[in-house]
Amino acid sequence: MGKIDPTSPVPKYFQLREILLDLIEDAELPVDAPIPSERELCQRYRLSRMTVRQAVDHLVTEGRLYRVPGKGTFVARPKIEMPLRLVSFTEDMRARGLEPGARDLDRRTTPANAHLARVFDVPPGTGVHVIERLRTADGEPMAVERSHIPLTVAPGLPDTPLSDASLYDVLETRFGIVFDAGEQTIEAGIADTADARLLDLARGSAVLLLQRRSFMNGTCVELAVSTYRADRYQLHSALEIPR
Ligand code: GLP
Repeated sequence: MGKIDPTSPVPKYFQLREILLDLIEDAELPVDAPIPSERELCQRYRLSRMTVRQAVDHLVTEGRLYRVPGKGTFVARPKIEMPLRLVSFTEDMRARGLEPGARDLDRRTTPANAHLARVFDVPPGTGVHVIERLRTADGEPMAVERSHIPLTVAPGLPDTPLSDASLYDVLETRFGIVFDAGEQTIEAGIADTADARLLDLARGSAVLLLQRRSFMNGTCVELAVSTYRADRYQLHSALEIPR
């Protein structure tokens, strides 16, 4: 069992945070298990209530623990590593053994404004089909995705039903689109009211804002602007040695 070192320069709440994380990592505190009560933690580690609360609050904010009002604080599932490869949501979820899902929120065709015209290299006013979907994994909401695709590359798209189907599969089988390059930016953000409701988050929760451009033969075919749950996703990347 980890111990708090009162002589250490590391703040005590941080030491407790590390102890709890070790217990989670070693599965001594498994997923969905309750953590000991505040009082027990205070006694076991000889800490003040404020220090214990600070450690637990941190872990809740980081998405490692979750609170159920009136019940206690529990161990959250490990976060999903955001893929830094050009894969579809469907492929990514299946590779993790999770069942991908999609709920259509909105579909519309709009004339390209100056920004979209530039992104897709089409004249302003060209039709762009917008598909807004709530993406789920084993039924749990994970992301709101807004895909923009110019009709020049997929003319019949507005009449193509999607429901649970993979957009990338439909683009390949119906329109012969196979992506060969992509780029993505990821930023921190705060869920707006609509996205918070869709994603089952408290208003003002942290989210990850993604913009992905996917290309075929040097032409941008999809611009996706998405909101991902920051409590369910994390980023991991190898670090290159500078030369
Ligand atoms: C990822 C990308 C989106 C893309 C989606 C397609 O989530 N971020 O840009 O639209 O995959 O997924 P699917 O083929 O499952 O509909």
